[in-house]
Formats: sequence, structure tokens, C-alpha cells
Amino acid sequence: TDYWVVVPAAGAGKRMGADRPKQYLPLLGRPLLSLTLHNILSWPGLAGIVVALSGEDKFFPYLKEAKHPLVHTVTGGEERADSVLAALQFLLEREDEDTPVLVHDAARPCVALDDIAALLDISTSTIALLARPASDTVKHSLSVHGVPCVEQTLDRTQIWLAQTPQRAPLGLLHSCLSRALEQGEMVTDEASALEAYGHSPQLVEGQGDNIKVTRPSDILVAETILRLRYAPTED
Ligand code: CTP
Ligand code: MG
Repeated sequence: TDYWVVVPAAGAGKRMGADRPKQYLPLLGRPLLSLTLHNILSWPGLAGIVVALSGEDKFFPYLKEAKHPLVHTVTGGEERADSVLAALQFLLEREDEDTPVLVHDAARPCVALDDIAALLDISTSTIALLARPASDTVKHSLSVHGVPCVEQTLDRTQIWLAQTPQRAPLGLLHSCLSRALEQGEMVTDEASALEAYGHSPQLVEGQGDNIKVTRPSDILVAETILRLRYAPTED
């Protein structure tokens, strides 16, 4: 079945601290967002991509993928969830409510095709996300006179770290996300908006190389992963 991909790319990249939003920093000589879109355009069964951009974005029109017929854009919002919601609104005006939607961070250019295949290989009505079982021991903290201290150690065997893509049917994702935002729920990813209304998203174990480019040191790691995967060319 066909599905759409929503790409939130309206962030400022504060933790990267570069002279431009991190999605436009070069990796192997090519803008990060260009690599992510290039990757998504290779996914089988793709119906189209909606990229959420900042209202101040001046870089996107220069990307090669900007003119691709499957690539659409909307103006994003203050938080990641607002950007995703803007893209979902665009889709609701055009597509059936049952259409599967995958939300994928602009900042994750390295996701492997095998992981996408695993995420697509489940029934279209299923809510699911790529995730990794925690390998470090996880501490829940509390602040003691401003110093972070361990409150308790969590059971590592039950801890997973959420990645993207995260998938859900268009109508359901739109209604849960908009309700969660209205009600001031903490929504740092799509799954958490669905969880707030009783859904239990399926965890699909991905490979360890789907990093989110967040801090300067991530650039070299992502470049190494990409270089091992394929050698992107200019055309
Ligand atoms: N994002 C978005 N709209 C926002 C905030 C974030 O579309 N208002 C996007 C980012 O562009 C990124 C993804 O959501 O692709 C994940 O967010 P994150 O890694 O936190 O990126 P930034 O918010 O840009 O970085 P930072 O938090 O360091 O400022
Ligand atoms: Mg952010």
C-alpha cells in the first residue's frame, strides 16, 4: 500500500550551534536534508513527502530534491509537533483518513532500508515506530540542591529508545496530535500523542545506525555511516 512521509525540518538546531539550521549543514558535501530526502525517495511504495519548513527558511529552494514531483512543503510551527500537525493538515485535505503516514526526522539521514522494510511490513492500521533496546543502564534522576542524583534505576530490559520513522493512519494521528497539543500534553514524538489516548504503539527494533544528528560530533559519525552505506553523488 502507498503511504506518505512527513518530514519535520523546521527546527533551529540550537544544540548544533552552527551558522545555519543543522538540516542545511553539509555531510559528505551535500546538505543533510538533501541526503534525508534522497534516502526517503528510495523507499518502496512511497506516495509523496511533505516537508515542514521554518517560515524563515531560505535554503530549501536550493536543494536538488526541492523540485522533485513527490516533494511538497508546508510551513511548520513553534514545536516539532506543530510542524508535524501542519503537514498532516495538508494531507487531510488531499488523502483518505486511512492513509498510512510515516513521520521521519529531517535530522536522521542514515536510516537503513531494511529498517524501513520492517516498519512497512506490518498491517496498515498498526501504530509502530523504530526503536532500540537500551544498552546502557538507565537512571531516573531527581535534583538534590541543584545536583542531579539517582532516584532509581529503571529495569533496562523494558527500556527502549524511540527513533523515527513513526507510523500511524493519517486521521488517527492528526486527531491525537491536535488533541494532545490542545490539552498541553508532553508530545516529543508521535507515539506519545497516541499513547495519551490509550494506544500502545508497536516497537520495531531498528539497527543502531539511525542516529539523530544533534551535536557537532554527530556529523562525523553520520558521515562515516553514510560513507559505509553508499557514496552519494552530486546528480
Ligand atoms: N523540528 C521541526 N519544527 C520545530 C522543531 C523541530 O520541524 N519547531 C524538526 C527538526 O528540524 C528536526 C526534528 O524536528 O528534523 C527533530 O528535532 P531536533 O533534533 O530537536 O532538531 P532542532 O529542534 O532543530 O534542534 P535543537 O533542539 O538542538 O534546537
Ligand atoms: Mg529540538
